[in-house]
Amino acid sequence: MNKTTISTVGQFVGQEVKIGAWLANKRSSGKIAFLQLRDGTGFIQGVVVKAEVGEDIFLKAKNLTQESSLYVTGIVREDERAPSGFELTVTNVDVIHEAVDYPITPKEHGTEFLMDHRHLWLRSKKQHANMKVRNEIIRATYEFFNKEGFVKVDPPILTGSAPEGTTELFATKYFDEDAYLSQSGQLYMEAAAMALGKVFSFGPTFRAEKSKTRRHLIEFWMIEPEMAFYEFEDSLKVQEEYVAHVVQSVLKNCKIELNALGRDTSKLENIVAPFPRITYDDAIKLLHEKGFDDIKWGDDFGAPHETAIAETYDKPVFITHYPTSLKPFYMQPDPNNDKVVLCADMIAPEGYGEIIGGSERIHDYDLLAERMKEHDLDPAAYQWYAELRKYGSVPHSGFGLGLERTVAWICGAEHVRETIPFPRLLNRLYP
Ligand code: 4AD
Ligand code: MG
Repeated sequence: MNKTTISTVGQFVGQEVKIGAWLANKRSSGKIAFLQLRDGTGFIQGVVVKAEVGEDIFLKAKNLTQESSLYVTGIVREDERAPSGFELTVTNVDVIHEAVDYPITPKEHGTEFLMDHRHLWLRSKKQHANMKVRNEIIRATYEFFNKEGFVKVDPPILTGSAPEGTTELFATKYFDEDAYLSQSGQLYMEAAAMALGKVFSFGPTFRAEKSKTRRHLIEFWMIEPEMAFYEFEDSLKVQEEYVAHVVQSVLKNCKIELNALGRDTSKLENIVAPFPRITYDDAIKLLHEKGFDDIKWGDDFGAPHETAIAETYDKPVFITHYPTSLKPFYMQPDPNNDKVVLCADMIAPEGYGEIIGGSERIHDYDLLAERMKEHDLDPAAYQWYAELRKYGSVPHSGFGLGLERTVAWICGAEHVRETIPFPRLLNRLYP
C-alpha cells in the first residue's frame, strides 16, 4: 500500500493509501462519520461508512478525540466540492496517540487564550494557511533575487551600530562591551554591495518599540536588498517588480490557503508593476483634501494617514521625498531640494500600511561625516561604515521589506501576530 501525504493523494485516485494524520474535527451519525484530517501538508475529509468498515472500525472512528494522531487507510476519490479536490473513503483507522481534552475546540476563543496556546493554535486551518503563505513569500523572494543575480549575504545579529536611531534598541552585553540586537542589517549590506554588487539579506531584526498596534512586532523578519550603482529610481523598479512577483507567486501557488482564509483575491490579481508614486508634498495636499486639516509639512504620517493615501490607489503606492528631518542619517539629499531625501516608503493597499522603507544612500564621505555629527553618532562605532566612502565610493540604493506586514496584507490578516509562528509582542514572550 502507498504511504503518502494529503497534498499528494491526487496521484493515487481509486487506490488505497495510508496517511499519518491528526483528527482536526469530526461529525457523525449512526451510520456514517466524517473525519476532518490534517497532516501538515493539507486537510482532507475521511468518510467512514459503517456498512462498509464494520461495527468495530466504525465505533473506533466515531469515538476519536480531537487532535489524536492516527494512521488512516482509505481509497482516494475525486470530489469537486472538497477544497483540495479529493476525499478519502476510510477503510481503517489506527490510533497512534489519543489526545485528551484538547484546549482549542471548534468554538470561538478569545485572542489572549489563543495567543497563550500559540504552540497548538498553529495547527488550525487559518494559522496553517498563514504559515504556508509566509513560506511561499520567502520562496518567491529567493527565486526573484537569485534570478536577478543578487547574492544572499547574512549580516550579523549582534552589532555595535544602530542604523534606524537609538530609541528602540534592544541593548545587551557583549562580554565587557555594550551591544545591540540588530534593528536592520543595512549598513553591513552596504559594505557587502561594494564587494558583491547586488546583495540581499533575510533575517530577524529587533525593535524595542513600545507600540501596541496591529502592525508592530518586537522581533520581525526583514528582507534587505542593497545595490551598487543603483540610483533612487532604479531601486523603485526593483521594489515594484519584487512585490508584484511575490503576490503573483502566492496567487498561483497558494490557492487552497487563500481560499481557507476567505481572502478576496480580486484585489491581489491587480498587483503588477509599475506602482504609483506620490511625493511627500503631494501626499500632504491629498491629506488636506481628504479632511486631515491638522497635518502640516514636516509631520510624520500615522496609520490613518497612510491608509487614507493608500485608499486612493488599487496597488501599493510609493510615498517619496520625505523631509530630511523625518528620516535616518544615511539618506541621500535630493539634488533639487536639500530639505528632502531620495527615499520612498511603499504603502500596501487595504490599510496594511508601510511594507517597505528604502532610499538612495549618501556616498560622499564629507556629507556622511556631517550627518553623523548632526545625529550624534559615535564616530568610532561607525568608522568602518564611513570608510566605505573612501575607497571607490559609488551611488547605491537599498530597501527593507517587513515580512510579517507583507504576509498580513496578502493573507488579509487583521494583526501581524498571526503572521509569524511565535510572535514577540509588548508583554508577550510566551510561548
Ligand atoms: O522602515 P524601516 O525601519 O527601514 C529600515 O530598517 C531600513 N534600514 C531598511 C533598508 O533600507 N535596508 O523598516 C523596514 C520595514 C518597514 O517598512 C516595515 O515593513 C518593517 O520593516 N517593520 C516592522 N514590521 C513589524 N514590526 C515592526 N516593529 C516593524 N518595524 C519596521
Ligand atoms: Mg520605515
